[in-house]
Amino acid sequence: MATVLYITAHPLDPEESFSLAVGKEFIEAYREANPTDEVVRLDLYKENIPQFDADVLRGWEKLRSGSSFDQLSEAEQSKVARLDAIVDQYVAADKYVYVSPMWNFSIPPVLKAYTDATSIPGKTFKYTKDGPVGLLSSKKALHIQASGSVYSEGPLAEVEMGYSYLKKILQFYGIQSMEAIFVEGTASSERAPAAIKEEAIAHAKEVAKSF
Ligand SMILES: Cc1cc2nc3c(=O)[nH]c(=O)nc-3n(C[C@H](O)[C@H](O)[C@H](O)COP(=O)(O)O)c2cc1C
Repeated sequence: MATVLYITAHPLDPEESFSLAVGKEFIEAYREANPTDEVVRLDLYKENIPQFDADVLRGWEKLRSGSSFDQLSEAEQSKVARLDAIVDQYVAADKYVYVSPMWNFSIPPVLKAYTDATSIPGKTFKYTKDGPVGLLSSKKALHIQASGSVYSEGPLAEVEMGYSYLKKILQFYGIQSMEAIFVEGTASSERAPAAIKEEAIAHAKEVAKSF
C-alpha cells in the first residue's frame, strides 16, 4: 500500500479552477486504480506552513549551537516543530501529486513556502564530501499546472518557472520520475478552454492508471 500526498496550492474550488478540476479527476481515477492506497490531501491554503522568518532561523541556529528544544522561545518551538512535522510527513509518503496554477510564470507563494519546508538537509537530501545527494530516489511525482498561455513548447518555454522549478527541486531530492500534465493555453484565442480542459482530464485519467 502506497501513500500519496495530494498537494494543492489553489485558494478556489475545482469548479473555478482548471488545475484543481484536472487534479480532482486524476485523484478519482487514481483511487479507482489503487483502492488500497492512502491518499492524503494537503490543501496548502488551509495548512499552517511557517515561512522561514526570524523565529525559524534563530530557532534552528540555537539548536545547531547546542541549545535544547526547551531553550527555544515559544514561537521558535512551535514553528520549528511544525516544520519538522511537515517534512516528516513528506518523507513518509511514496508519491506526490502537486496541483497549482501558474502565477507570474511560477508557482503560488504558498507552494514555495511548502517547498522550502520540504527542502531540509538530513531529510530530503544530505550533504556529502562530493556535494548534496538526494534521499528520495525511490519516490515519484506528478505536477498538474494550469496556465493561460502555452509554456510546454514554443516561444514562452524559456520563461516557464513553475513546473521547471518544482522538477529541479524534486531532482535535488533524488526523485527521478516526475510527470507533468499541463492545462495550458486557456487564455489564448486559438482553442476553446473547455476542449483544453477535457483533453487534460483524458490525459490525467491515462496517467492515473500507471502512476
Ligand atoms: C495572479 C495571476 C497571475 C497569472 N500569471 C500568469 C502567467 O504568468 N502566465 C500565464 O500564462 N497565465 C497567468 N495567469 C493565468 C492563469 O495561469 C490561468 O488562469 C490558469 O488557468 C490558472 O489556473 P487555475 O485555472 O487552476 O486557476 C495568472 C493568473 C493570475 C490570477
